[in-house]
Amino acid sequence: MPGVISTRTGAAHARITGIGAYRPRRVVPNSELVEAIDSSDEWIQERSGIKTRHFAGEGESVIDMSEFATRDALEMAGLEAGEVDAVVLATVSHPYQTPAAAPALADRMGMDKPVAFDISAACAGYCHGISLANDMVRGGSARNVAVIGVERLSDFTSRTDRGTAFIFGDGAGTAIVSAAEEPGIGPTVWGSEGDKWDVIAQNESWIDVHEQKLDWPTIGMQGQRVFRWAVWSMAPVAQRALDVAGVSVDQLDAFIPHQANVRIIDALCKQLRMPEHVPVARDIIDSANTSAASVPLATERMLREGLAPRGGLALQIGFGAGLSYAAQVITLP
Ligand code: UT7
Repeated sequence: MPGVISTRTGAAHARITGIGAYRPRRVVPNSELVEAIDSSDEWIQERSGIKTRHFAGEGESVIDMSEFATRDALEMAGLEAGEVDAVVLATVSHPYQTPAAAPALADRMGMDKPVAFDISAACAGYCHGISLANDMVRGGSARNVAVIGVERLSDFTSRTDRGTAFIFGDGAGTAIVSAAEEPGIGPTVWGSEGDKWDVIAQNESWIDVHEQKLDWPTIGMQGQRVFRWAVWSMAPVAQRALDVAGVSVDQLDAFIPHQANVRIIDALCKQLRMPEHVPVARDIIDSANTSAASVPLATERMLREGLAPRGGLALQIGFGAGLSYAAQVITLP
């Protein structure tokens, strides 16, 4: 008799049950950065919308920041750390090639040997993680998944690069994804455009840095190319995420796009014909672009400040280096 593989299935549906955020204490205004890049507070605000960003303190690692965010998310979800059986951590600024940050976070939190791994999808990483968590819960490979978006980009940003010095910030956001009675995470529309691999990238590979004795590598960006791509290519992706979820823009209680530039957010709203009554996340003004952390940080803020209702429908989209993107409609925790 040939063997037949048994399979398993999980919950019918999944949803986000808790969200937590960590913003480092140090707030850095534009005025602290402008001299090194021959810029001004007015220029930065006008071209990006950014007024301040948070920079992690000395020795404050992506694992430390993740721990704070994850504790808050678990509290909102009403779960103990030991009940989490999967940790999916999205980051591009964990300073070890290996091992991943996720197992260390799990151990720090006192979790019970969960599956734990990092994903590298830059600013789209958190929305990739939400999609994976949804599939894991529904596929039966995990019951409660912690999805973390965390960055310490201040380590990988050149203070003298006019195109990026003012853009990036640090922080962490965590969502807990668990089984649900009703659908709480719509189908994800995601993909990549590797022909534009070079438009946001670490400037040199670790091999080049080592062999050619180069300076510490930072992240470079062809700002205008990324800007145009974000404005023209991401609105159709966001619209498809609405369509596959069977939700119209009128039915949204929040729009939470990646916090890359206020002008990109405004352009997306215009193209999606976002109604005036839908609140739109603009956490970028105080937090700048925190890459993988930007969507969960913005979500936590909207809920905490009462800008979006708990249990409401939100459209979220992440996009960035790769180039990669992911969008889905979710029920807010
Ligand atoms: O998270 C991943 C996704 N990332 C994004 O989506 C970021 C997308 N890109 C952007 O947000 C924008 O491209 C930036 C905010 C980075 C830059 O804004 P921009 O409007 O695209 O500026 P630009 O590079 O086209 O430069 C416009 C002008 C130039 O001067 P001229 O040639 O018009 O005289 C630049 O030399 O502004 C000058 N400039 C600056 N001036 C003051 C460029 N950088 C600066 C600066 N301060 N930092």
